Amino acid sequence: MYLAIPKENINGETRVAATPGTVKDLIKSGMEVFVESKAGQNSYFSDQEYKDAGANIVDSEDELLSQADVIIKVLPPSNEQLLKIKPNAAIISFCQTTRELDTVKAMRDRSLTGFSMHLVPRTTLAQKMDALSSQANIAGYKSVLIAASRLSVYMPLLMTAAGTIRPAKVLVLGAGVAGLQAIATAKRLGAQVEAFDVRPVVKEQVESLGAKFIQVEAGEDEGVGEGGYAKETSDEYKRLQQQLIHDHISKADVVITTALIPGRPAPLLIPTSMVDAMKPGSIIMDLASENGGNCELTKKDETITHNGVIIDGTSNIPGTMPVHASELYAKNVAALLTYMVKEGELNLDLEDEIISESMYTHNGEITHKPTKETLTA
Ligand code: NAI
Repeated sequence: MYLAIPKENINGETRVAATPGTVKDLIKSGMEVFVESKAGQNSYFSDQEYKDAGANIVDSEDELLSQADVIIKVLPPSNEQLLKIKPNAAIISFCQTTRELDTVKAMRDRSLTGFSMHLVPRTTLAQKMDALSSQANIAGYKSVLIAASRLSVYMPLLMTAAGTIRPAKVLVLGAGVAGLQAIATAKRLGAQVEAFDVRPVVKEQVESLGAKFIQVEAGEDEGVGEGGYAKETSDEYKRLQQQLIHDHISKADVVITTALIPGRPAPLLIPTSMVDAMKPGSIIMDLASENGGNCELTKKDETITHNGVIIDGTSNIPGTMPVHASELYAKNVAALLTYMVKEGELNLDLEDEIISESMYTHNGEITHKPTKETLTA
């Protein structure tokens, strides 16, 4: 089996889908590994390191893609790349299949088998393949550092001869994987941290990190959807939530927003009127910018200032920490791929939950139901 690792060549992507470490594991599973020259450059892995791990280095992307049985990537292949891939090859990458419909259609039309790291089920067995968590962790951590470096105040409480400096107030909206890591990081820097989430079950997790959980008084399961994820809330809940956030946001120095609902646009938590109530010099890090943002003013991949409030809409924060982002992503991908490989060949058991749920195109068909429904809607 010819496994290809191309260089990511769009949107300034710095990560790579395999590291010299995972290349060794992939070879052990019986695959022949081909890495495009300079594929690891932006993550500081050299061609020599890949070679030493047992990979073949290929200069031409055309050659790599046309030979590959399986391709592993971070971002989905571009339309141009898709045309070079031989039919029936399999591709593993991130892909928001209900939104990146042109890619899905092109994959179907070329009879390519697509697996999205976004679709890997969040089950115990698939935990080591969970790239959403590994990358969200980095986003949560780094967002706090970016905010801290931009702040014009200290994060911790300081008692100095010149007086006492009060700690910065950090408000985290959405306490999933990214939010919890943001809370932990802000606490380590000495900030006073508050967090809000529609799922009351996270209260204990937030408090165990030493932060204060602020909550809307409502039914226990108001924001709780399938599989423990969040779901849309009622209008009355939204009104109470807006009031609660408004009261806390006006005092915050840093707001980290991470609220997402799978398969839907990010919920709007911070309308412009709330930004207007914030202090000049305060910062919003909108980690939901990829899905439209939690703040009305967020501009994806731009940092803007509104009445002195800085709003950062960087969508690929993990890409700003490419070594660990690549190491973890590469491990997630290698775990999924080796799970599907038997004796050096892809062995797609379509009855298997992990394989069937992660797959979105196969044999000229779109196999992921919500994606198919979005296309025909
Ligand atoms: P996510 O990225 O889909 O959402 C982030 C957070 O935003 C969630 O906590 C969600 O409740 C919250 N949110 C949604 N709408 C909101 C609103 N209107 N206001 C405030 N907050 C809102 O979720 P993520 O971080 O990928 O995972 C969420 C949870 O899923 C985890 O905390 C965990 O409990 C579970 N999970 C389970 C795994 C496993 O069993 N293997 C692996 C990863 C996550």
